[in-house]
Amino acid sequence: DYLRDELLTQETRDMISSLPKEKGWLVSEMYQFQGRWHTQALLQGILICQKRFEAKDSDIILVTNPKSGTTWLKALVFALLHRHKFPVPSLGNHPLLVTNPHLLVPFLEGVYYESPDFDFSGLPTPRLMNTHIPYLSLPESIKSSSCKIVYCCRNPKDMFVSLWHFGKKLAPEETADYPIEKAVEAFCEGKFIGGPFWEHILEYWYASRENPNKVLFVTYEELKKQTGAEMKQIAEFLGCGFIEEEEVREIVKLCSFESLSNLEVNRAGKLPNGIETKSFFRKGETGGWRDTLSESLAEEIDRTIEEKFHGSGLKF
Ligand code: A3P
Repeated sequence: DYLRDELLTQETRDMISSLPKEKGWLVSEMYQFQGRWHTQALLQGILICQKRFEAKDSDIILVTNPKSGTTWLKALVFALLHRHKFPVPSLGNHPLLVTNPHLLVPFLEGVYYESPDFDFSGLPTPRLMNTHIPYLSLPESIKSSSCKIVYCCRNPKDMFVSLWHFGKKLAPEETADYPIEKAVEAFCEGKFIGGPFWEHILEYWYASRENPNKVLFVTYEELKKQTGAEMKQIAEFLGCGFIEEEEVREIVKLCSFESLSNLEVNRAGKLPNGIETKSFFRKGETGGWRDTLSESLAEEIDRTIEEKFHGSGLKF
């Protein structure tokens, strides 16, 4: 999996040996590359992606910070793009009813970590993929082509809490003795795998404002509040053509937390990398951070939000 380094090549080991290194929550080693902290595994995936991935104008790339609604967004956009091939409601044969969304939409740096020679050119058009790669570290062709990016952002307190529980499930031993106070501090400072998340959000936010035809910025909170309207906005951005209201309603229902999380494939399945599919479905709520964060820890994150997003136009 992405926390271990079993599939590291000698080339990656040589390249990262000169990078700044820190011990992080969840992992004993994380490396700073282009201003961000990564596990060795995903860093290898990013490096190969930068070198090998050739974007096509018709590509659709879903971008998130971890635990910001990736699984949901993958399901929604997959169902939307394939609504003619796989109409919803379906008589039990929609791919989302029998396959976890992560297996329907490839994770760029994850695939490249596991299979450095993977050839994305064979995927059907339009190719739908996802990544957590920061804007600055995206392969050049993603930025220079006319491919579309849908970015989903989540309230950082909910994102932290979701990550915290996910990490504990994923690596109970590694996280057992790590106090939440220390994790919040590292999260705020940005010394967290995948972090700093603040810059990740801001870069895509500004990219969406500068180039609204290229980057669409949506939030988990708005998706929760008005899934249908947000989905129509995504459909329009992607040039999906006319969609019946009934179709929108059915896709929203199929991709809802209640529906996806209760499917056998998402309750008892495993991804090829060993992660249990049920770990992608916890509560699926907004504001759930109150169960886990004390008032003072929530204030610490709020102060960072204020400091980082002040003047950007982004509100949480
Ligand atoms: P919680 O841990 O707060 O419940 P990601 O997919 O980026 O890993 O994010 C996981 C988060 O999204 C988890 O949040 C999970 O429960 C939530 N989630 C997964 N599927 C969802 C859906 N269909 N609708 C709403 N939230 C969903």
